[in-house]
Amino acid sequence: MDHFQLKHGILHAEDVPIDRIADEVGTPVYIYSHATLTRHARVFRDALSILPRVHLAFAVKSNPNLAVLKVLQREGYGADVVSEGEMRRALAAGMRAQDIVFSGVGKSAAELAAGLEAGIGQFNLESEEEGAELAALAAARGIRAVAALRVNPDVEAGTHAKISTGKAENKFGVSYERAAEIYARLSALPGIEMRGLAVHIGSQLARLEPLRDAFARMGELMRLLRGQGLCVTHMDLGGGLGVPYRADETFPSPAEYAAMVAEATRDWDVTLMFEPGRVIAGNTGVLVTRVIRVKAGVNCPFVVVDAAMNDLARPALYDAWHDFVAVRPSGRRMVASVVGPICESSDTFAKERDIDAVAAGDLAVFRTAGAYGATMANTYNSRPLVPEVMVDGSRYAIVADRIDPAAILAAEHVPDWLA
Ligand code: LLP
Repeated sequence: MDHFQLKHGILHAEDVPIDRIADEVGTPVYIYSHATLTRHARVFRDALSILPRVHLAFAVKSNPNLAVLKVLQREGYGADVVSEGEMRRALAAGMRAQDIVFSGVGKSAAELAAGLEAGIGQFNLESEEEGAELAALAAARGIRAVAALRVNPDVEAGTHAKISTGKAENKFGVSYERAAEIYARLSALPGIEMRGLAVHIGSQLARLEPLRDAFARMGELMRLLRGQGLCVTHMDLGGGLGVPYRADETFPSPAEYAAMVAEATRDWDVTLMFEPGRVIAGNTGVLVTRVIRVKAGVNCPFVVVDAAMNDLARPALYDAWHDFVAVRPSGRRMVASVVGPICESSDTFAKERDIDAVAAGDLAVFRTAGAYGATMANTYNSRPLVPEVMVDGSRYAIVADRIDPAAILAAEHVPDWLA
């Protein structure tokens, strides 16, 4: 359920007609619905309230916009961050350092130090080497870093290969077989307090079974560690719950997910930590675009829009589907390919798809673009960096400016020896 609905024949974001924002801010532009974001944050939180002790850390990578993070901070979320940049955003949004989990497969020494100095609540370690480095940095500061060990449970997540993270051959975490010895060695270091395990098997998961299998394996490991006298008080179960991108898809609800977690972790006696991204942010955003022109193609016309793969990379990267709907639908349909202006064929949003009929100058949106949308935007083809707007009832605000190519050009320099 989201707040992007037709009212009087015009697609609205809450109470604001989308054509008004397009006219005033320009296109392409991302629009987020405050009501939808708040609702998703609450639905997820309320679903997990059947569990005894829960820590929620929003996966900042899915939507790092400062206003979005502020909404989630007000809803009681901490953050899962994977770089110093994301950590600074979460802190800037008012999240408490102790509520931040620092994940990421390649945290540099400088990032580990920055995390320690900020007082980050938990570092999710991806290797023994990283743990030893963190312990040394903490010991040198006379403190102990709080950490969990990310384990690769070697399960098939059943999602797109590029966003699957829990198979043994993936780069994430330490191998399941070696996890216990690594945990024991790290626990013995003076600069570190090992308090638990972390797992994340992939994103856009359509079924609960792979998660259930992964959690079962993590439970076994937890028991093994405790049997060796090691301390485990926290278990980080990651993110990954998928969302429907098409009307005919069904996905497990947060309530079904929570019931599975409750069952899988019944006798664990730990604080359970979660890192949801897409399930919170996905449906809270759309990308608004204007049709530049419609040109003839061999099998069907090309609808050339002013958004491109640099603004929304998911279709080009993962063959992802985003519904394309007109802002003022006429009721007529057409079969067309929707493409952006960028000079490569991967800049295609929809291939020979049945869509609302559109013509040059019309506005349309790509739906379910609130997660992994603006955050993955870039300036390829020297295009502007796409702006973001948040709507709240009948008001809206620009929450990220369009960054002009001139500003990017101004940050580049011709060395003296080329002048
Ligand atoms: N925790 C960790 C350690 C992660 O790596 C991720 C996502 C999450 C949590 C959040 O997962 P979510 O709940 O959003 O599924 N760009 C891709 C998705 C990449 C996901 C990367 N990791 C896409 O557009 O589909």
